[in-house]
Amino acid sequence: MVEELYISDTTDKSKIYQEIIPQIEALIKGEKNWIANLANTAAALKQTFNWFWVGFYLIENNELVLAPFQGPIACTRITFGKGVCGKAWMDEETIIVPDVALFDGHIACNANSKSEIVVPLFHNNKIIGVLDCDSEYINHFDTIDKLYLEKICTLLVNNT
Ligand code: SME
Repeated sequence: MVEELYISDTTDKSKIYQEIIPQIEALIKGEKNWIANLANTAAALKQTFNWFWVGFYLIENNELVLAPFQGPIACTRITFGKGVCGKAWMDEETIIVPDVALFDGHIACNANSKSEIVVPLFHNNKIIGVLDCDSEYINHFDTIDKLYLEKICTLLVNNT
């Protein structure tokens, strides 16, 4: 297990993801506790990118329920189809929201969140939750984030 994250001093986002993914892999490898792995992954992403909020929601009794996260307190439960998280669950695909003010039905857990990306977690082809990353800057997430965050979600699920 890695004890400290190595993050290079570069503005190349792809390079940063390429560096941290093997470190996240090392961090969760051999650990079968799902919550521990979600917690450390949320912490690694927060430490690397310093996004406003990063964390997981897991499906339980047909609702998304707040799971390990880093950042300010957040909504505990999200209904199917509601908000960006609920829509990503319903559509079973990643959603990038460049400006949350323009997303119909966005759930504002915190007024400081301005843009967002939500990535589904699939286990045996079945959606089990989402990874939600929020930024206090408009237009903060793009297809590079989508590519690598989807890889991280796959890695997490395949580890269990
Ligand atoms: N904004 C999300 C809710 C979760 S919080 O941002 C942490 C949504 O619209 O689903």
